[in-house]
Amino acid sequence: MKELREAVIVDAVRTPIGKRNGSLAGLRPDELASHVLRELLKRTGIEAGIVDDVIMGCNTQTAQQGANIGRMAVLGAGFPYTVPACSLNRACGSSQQAVNFGAQSIATGNADVVIAAGVEHMTLLPIGSDFGEGFAAFNPKTVEEYPVIPMTMSADTMAEKYELAREDLDKFALWSHEKAVAAWDAGKFANEVAPIKAPQIEGEDVLVEKDDSPRRDSTLEKLNSLPPLHGGTTTAANACPINDGAAAVMLMSREKADELSLKDRAVVTAQAVVGVEPVTCLEGPIFVIPKCLERAGMTLDEMNLIEINEAFASVVLATAKALEFDALSDGRLAVHGGSLALGHPLGASGARLITTILNALEDKNLKYGMVSMCCGLGLGTATIIEREK
Ligand SMILES: CC(C)(COP(=O)(O)OP(=O)(O)OC[C@H]1O[C@@H](n2cnc3c(N)ncnc32)[C@H](O)[C@@H]1OP(=O)(O)O)[C@@H](O)C(=O)NCCC(=O)NCCS
Repeated sequence: MKELREAVIVDAVRTPIGKRNGSLAGLRPDELASHVLRELLKRTGIEAGIVDDVIMGCNTQTAQQGANIGRMAVLGAGFPYTVPACSLNRACGSSQQAVNFGAQSIATGNADVVIAAGVEHMTLLPIGSDFGEGFAAFNPKTVEEYPVIPMTMSADTMAEKYELAREDLDKFALWSHEKAVAAWDAGKFANEVAPIKAPQIEGEDVLVEKDDSPRRDSTLEKLNSLPPLHGGTTTAANACPINDGAAAVMLMSREKADELSLKDRAVVTAQAVVGVEPVTCLEGPIFVIPKCLERAGMTLDEMNLIEINEAFASVVLATAKALEFDALSDGRLAVHGGSLALGHPLGASGARLITTILNALEDKNLKYGMVSMCCGLGLGTATIIEREK
């Protein structure tokens, strides 16, 4: 057995995030994924042939996202066919898991260069497109014990269980949009977003440069007036939107990065995954964050920036309550806005969050970033990255 090595992030990039039927809807998901793969090569100047593996996270692996979309993306990107690829599904945490598996493979000496990426085209393939006829994916016997309910209903359950007020959920959602708009206005996404040309429903192709979903016109009064989706506290505004996008992170051993004269932008310090109660479903971050911190021998106070994926405002507020910090005043959370505003293209979001936190850490000259996500059927993922200051 070889000694463990450090897995470093040398670059990370994402597409702008389109909303359902929005600016990216005219592209195929593999084209979105190929775009971020090509961008990584352009930015780092490496030969595609040295990539040992491409791990593509994707939640809804059917039709245009079926048949190993990772491989389709590699071939479509013009990489030599000798570059392998796989597609993995850890629901919303898919591309975060791609980063974590990629880092493991480098740490153990089984790869030198891995691209960990993710993609989701929710316009073409809405949640559930891979469930099959009559919900064939779900074994009726298992579902008797663990009923499958829509995520938006799980979000209500979280708000009830953790006694969260609608007013606070709406405040948090509004804050996400304000931070995202401010970040766009201040040019904070310039280094992470790779504009992409996309066919539109009418007219010429357009170079899409910005995310579709952040709203400038949000007000608390408007948010408070929106009807609950299921009679609880979850609304269209304190739930993430439906989106299209892709993101990719290039990982290397430190030795390989040095050999190629590439700066290591961060090290993957620790990672964890948990299973949680599948009906409440969204408690993953509450359990996986402490587990990951324990692995790193660190505390949450030591994290300079934190991303808890904003699948729903209730997920972040419940996690903060359980881990005893105040989501509404903690200055470390999603400093450039979260998925409520930027969007949540499921399989792409983990790599997107790691890309965004890396750029935010650099922007603020900070060291430690924690990324955590809740995932369907009761899973949680976490990663700590560390910059050399
Ligand atoms: C919640 C959901 C059902 C809403 O779908 P929708 O009704 O099509 O949502 P819309 O974005 O059209 O919002 C409906 C209306 O709410 C209002 N609204 C939504 N967000 C708002 C905001 N932040 N500020 C102000 N108004 C807002 C708008 O009036 C909007 O209408 P508009 O088209 O005139 O702007 C859908 O976004 C969804 O399913 N999200 C969850 C996805 C999911 O489960 N992901 C996995 C998580 S783990």
